[in-house]
Amino acid sequence: MTRLNGKTALITGAARGIGLAFAKAYIREGARVVLADIDVLRAQSEAANLGEAAFAVQMDVTCQQSIDAAVAASVAQFGQIDILINNAAIFTAAPIVEITRADYARCFDINVSGTLFTLQAVAEHMIARGGGGKIINMASQAGRRGEALVAVYCASKAAIISLTQSAGLDLIKHGINVNAIAPGVVDGEHWDGVDAFFAKYEGKAPGQKKREVGAGVPFGRMGRAEDLTGMAVFLASAEADYIVAQTYNVDGGQWMS
Ligand SMILES: NC(=O)c1ccc[n+]([C@@H]2O[C@H](COP(=O)([O-])OP(=O)(O)OC[C@H]3O[C@@H](n4cnc5c(N)ncnc54)[C@H](O)[C@@H]3O)[C@@H](O)[C@H]2O)c1
Repeated sequence: MTRLNGKTALITGAARGIGLAFAKAYIREGARVVLADIDVLRAQSEAANLGEAAFAVQMDVTCQQSIDAAVAASVAQFGQIDILINNAAIFTAAPIVEITRADYARCFDINVSGTLFTLQAVAEHMIARGGGGKIINMASQAGRRGEALVAVYCASKAAIISLTQSAGLDLIKHGINVNAIAPGVVDGEHWDGVDAFFAKYEGKAPGQKKREVGAGVPFGRMGRAEDLTGMAVFLASAEADYIVAQTYNVDGGQWMS
């Protein structure tokens, strides 16, 4: 299949997990992919495994210089950016009375400012080229509804849904589609951290929270990164040209909106 033939994608946070699965799926569909991550060594090692269609860059989405440098390096390597996936994010959680300003600022800096200013830098490039583009933001079911112990992360993902709406409405006049994916619970290193958090605050055994959430998914199990790739390919393809400012749940039936 080559639904993304000739396209170049910049994927933030692509050294592991969902971003890496997106990179592999895009390459299978004919795209060239820039794996951008703060963990550049891991991104380089994964890019080396993926071959000539992959290129790794160091990128810290909290730093404007780093965003600009990653965009410039992507254009220097592949000539253009047609697709951006704002995937880099961190999870954080604490009871309301234990939230610190430092933790709040770090989460919003990476998850929200990182998404907005990477989107802005790539949109500037896409507008200057005049060829349109596709931007996909990673939201979450956590952005659909608050959770008692997860206030800051949930709020950051609600902000992603809102930014997707505003950016989608503003940029479609340039032929740039901005949409988002809201995964449910996806197993991997991210959820290892979530599980450890609930072990601490809910007195659960390691792995117990994962088993519980997996059993609670209507589909019958936690998601896998590969469960999300179909939506990511579709939203980046010409088949999604008429889709603007939407957030799609890909969560095994967890959420309905
Ligand atoms: N795993 C889930 O259950 C789940 C559910 C809903 C939404 N999501 C969202 O999907 C996306 C990917 O999740 P994942 O499970 O693959 O997470 P992950 O933690 O496995 O991967 C995140 C990647 O982002 C990178 N990163 C962190 N800070 C960065 C920074 N400042 N600059 C650049 N890169 C940085 C990390 O090095 C890592 O490679 C995230 O936006 C996450 O919030 C995940």
